[in-house]
Amino acid sequence: MSILITGGAGYIGSHMVLQLLNEQEKVVVLDNLSTGFHWSVPPCAIFVKGDVGDQELVTNIIQDHQVTAIVHFAASSVVPESLRDPMGYYYNNTAKSCALIRTALKQGIKHFVFSSTAAVYGVTDTFVVTEDTPKKPISPYGSSKLMIEKMLSDAAASHNFNYVALRYFNVAGADPEGRIGQSTPNATHLIKVACQASLGLRPYLEIFGSDYDTTDGTGIRDYIHVSDLVAAHSATLCYLRNGGRSEVLNCGYGRGSSVLEIVNSVKQAANRDFRLKYSPRRAGDPAALIANTEKIRKTLDWRPQYNDLDLITRHALHWEEHLSREACAKDNRLTARVI
Ligand code: UD1
Repeated sequence: MSILITGGAGYIGSHMVLQLLNEQEKVVVLDNLSTGFHWSVPPCAIFVKGDVGDQELVTNIIQDHQVTAIVHFAASSVVPESLRDPMGYYYNNTAKSCALIRTALKQGIKHFVFSSTAAVYGVTDTFVVTEDTPKKPISPYGSSKLMIEKMLSDAAASHNFNYVALRYFNVAGADPEGRIGQSTPNATHLIKVACQASLGLRPYLEIFGSDYDTTDGTGIRDYIHVSDLVAAHSATLCYLRNGGRSEVLNCGYGRGSSVLEIVNSVKQAANRDFRLKYSPRRAGDPAALIANTEKIRKTLDWRPQYNDLDLITRHALHWEEHLSREACAKDNRLTARVI
């Protein structure tokens, strides 16, 4: 019996693979490598290159590897990009997830864990949101994920199938052992971009909006360490296998940090200053978004271990330093060949 991880070569998916292998689970990764990396999947996990929307391929994987549960990460996940290419997001996220869920139901899969997002809330009346806060996504990314939540709820109502949709807040940091991290070259995540600025890989960090109605005028988010996030997925699998009912759960720490707080934490971790450039607000950005975490803490046996902003930025910085060293070594090899 195995667990199928879609998007298992990506940032969060690859951390999930390590976590499950550590728990002695059998893992099959399905990833089209559009943003993920084959090297981030350990050889003891089975790797299949392909698309979650390919029903024949997914059927074969489920049958060949006796898949009993699916953890579905594969998606496009950059808010500004979704505003430029909404149909691409509805196709890649919503339509392909629909195909995946159909295949899962046809093949009798019983448990499904879905990567949803805090972007389903959009602009809210309160900064701290519960799962029942009205969902008014302001980006196609958020809408594309909210539609999948609805599909799962309808699927669970008519099939012997339970699911949990985890609404991620801002995932950051890297494997504490330094094996993997966020490696997408053009990632736009604040903590990654700030680490790159601190290493001189960017001339400055752009701050999108300093006139929000927040403590220091910059945007506030609930940053959660990627290792705690994947531990929440493990706890979710356990909950579903024990017959837990289908749920939607906020997945954050319940603590907000502003852009300037992140900047200071990264500067401290790097022990280096870097330039800031103040720019207008970015389209699709709410002022603040913080999880109310009461429900996830009550529902799952989940104890976060890395709930410390400085630890998150330190792990993110270590990974960025590793990537930068690798890139230098590659450049040196190329130069040596040319000479
Ligand atoms: C993130 C996730 C999204 C997730 C959502 C949940 C990314 C790319 N997207 O979006 O998948 O569903 O959280 O809320 O991580 N900022 C700057 N300068 C930068 C980059 C960001 O000032 O160069 C600011 C933003 O305006 C925002 C905050 O930092 O206030 C976080 O931005 P970002 O890391 O891009 O994540 P979200 O847009 O919140």
